[in-house]
Amino acid sequence: MIITSPIINFAHRGASRECPENTMAAFRRAVELGATGIETDVQMTRDGRLVLIHDERLERTTNGKGWVKDQTWEELAGLDAGSWFKGGAYAGERIPLLEDLLELALGSRLVLNIELKNGRCFYPGMEQKVIAAVRACGLGSWTVISSFNHYSLALCRTLAPEIGTGILYSEGLYRPWAYAASLGAGALHAEYRTALPELVREAAACGVVFHPWTVNEPAEMSALIESGVAGIITDEPGMLSALLERRLN
Ligand code: G3P
Ligand code: MG
Repeated sequence: MIITSPIINFAHRGASRECPENTMAAFRRAVELGATGIETDVQMTRDGRLVLIHDERLERTTNGKGWVKDQTWEELAGLDAGSWFKGGAYAGERIPLLEDLLELALGSRLVLNIELKNGRCFYPGMEQKVIAAVRACGLGSWTVISSFNHYSLALCRTLAPEIGTGILYSEGLYRPWAYAASLGAGALHAEYRTALPELVREAAACGVVFHPWTVNEPAEMSALIESGVAGIITDEPGMLSALLERRLN
């Protein structure tokens, strides 16, 4: 993966404190706020389209109902994914396709952290489709594919050794760098409280980087930066960008 700044500022679901998560409004706002990377969540429709939405079901963030996997792209394309947020200020925002974000990433030189949401719905063929979409844009070296489904990450390693992979986990792992090496993954996407400084250092010595999530307080961001993480996943890309700038000056 190409590193564009010392520490990648991954906007979690876009600028998700300010805008409805996983919408183009949230992704564009993240760029304005200084994000150098975007984290997003991918699900797959019944007709095999890759859509950016966190939940397997539609109710929380759209005016639709039911499972994403049971509906076609045509059925999802007209849904409103913005009205639920901040009193309707973002009414009319749609569920994006992965290709919409790839286009933005290409134009804005963003690192993409594409989280495959295939831990509950397995979405056969999703890995191949994500890899093909990333390759079609030439963004392989700008992408890390992450997932809580580590079998899926192992498959991605086999299918696309040139694309980075990030192991998502929520609770402490024993010698996480060794686990990463066993999968051929270059990054550990750890819940930030498990990213202890000694683990970050030991992993770095073995060539494995940490991208902890979801870090929304300056003190926690600073502590992680001090310990040597390579990127931070945050709902507050503006806060992180200001903090990184202060450290440079
Ligand atoms: O990539 C980090 C984070 O997004 C994982 O959890 O539930 O926010 O997708 P979640
Ligand atoms: Mg996610």
